[in-house]
Amino acid sequence: MQMTGNTILITGGTSGIGRGLAEAFHRLGNQVIIAGRRQGRLDEIMAANPGMIGFQLDVRNPAAIDAFAARVREKIPELNVLVNNAGISRPESLTAEPDLSVARDIIETNVMGVLHMTAALLPALKTKPRSAIITTTSGLAFVPRNNFPTYCASKAFLHSWLKSLRIQLRGSSIEVLELVPPYVQTELSGSHQMSDPHAMPLAAYIDEVMRLLTGRNTPDGEILVERVKGERWAERDGNYARRFALFNGT
Ligand SMILES: NC(=O)c1ccc[n+]([C@@H]2O[C@H](COP(=O)([O-])OP(=O)(O)OC[C@H]3O[C@@H](n4cnc5c(N)ncnc54)[C@H](OP(=O)(O)O)[C@@H]3O)[C@@H](O)[C@H]2O)c1
Repeated sequence: MQMTGNTILITGGTSGIGRGLAEAFHRLGNQVIIAGRRQGRLDEIMAANPGMIGFQLDVRNPAAIDAFAARVREKIPELNVLVNNAGISRPESLTAEPDLSVARDIIETNVMGVLHMTAALLPALKTKPRSAIITTTSGLAFVPRNNFPTYCASKAFLHSWLKSLRIQLRGSSIEVLELVPPYVQTELSGSHQMSDPHAMPLAAYIDEVMRLLTGRNTPDGEILVERVKGERWAERDGNYARRFALFNGT
């Protein structure tokens, strides 16, 4: 994708990877719009980045997405990049008392949120000469951790779905990119993750992603930093069983 001259909407722009990407694209002079549920965070980030726009949006709410897309079409018709980054991660025990509420939350946010945002904005993106849809999956799409069963499956779903979307949009102006983070220092699974030495520092992750995008180093539409390649290519390289055992203590 082009790195300047864009109008970019980033869901989950109120923290972590989404905020990091938003600020990096903003520094390059792009018009950046962030979306998330926490109005306080939106206000803080807009104040810290003059010119950035924030919209409150819950991607689990289909009616809100439709209203949001209509507002974007009217007020920001130049939008040409959608970053589907909002996501949640929660541990689950499949052997404890059956409770699907966590699974439902994850699927509504990570899967249906992405499908709905894409469907709502696709018609507008198609009319632009150069546009892109970037969706955040995870290294765990490729080697799952058993204590996050629905989370890992939600990202594997997205990986597969994006492969189909990319083919369906072949020949259109829309580039379909998959951002595949490794374990990164964000608040995704709680505040402890922000300082977990096993996680990649957020600034280093964002820098590497921006370098890959700038160099168009996104083979098959995948944005893979060095740290995630072990998981991404575990099966191809014959390392799957070892990595799976490492993640799952088997
Ligand atoms: N950090 C990692 O280790 C890692 C690894 C692989 C993949 N990822 C993926 O990276 C993406 C960003 O996560 P992160 O690590 O940056 O964690 P994060 O700091 O917790 O960010 C998650 C973002 O998603 C937003 N969000 C969650 N539910 C939402 C909803 N219903 N509607 C709208 N926005 C919602 C949150 O904003 P509000 O709370 O304001 O709504 C927040 O901005 C996620 O898709 C995650 O699965 C992260």
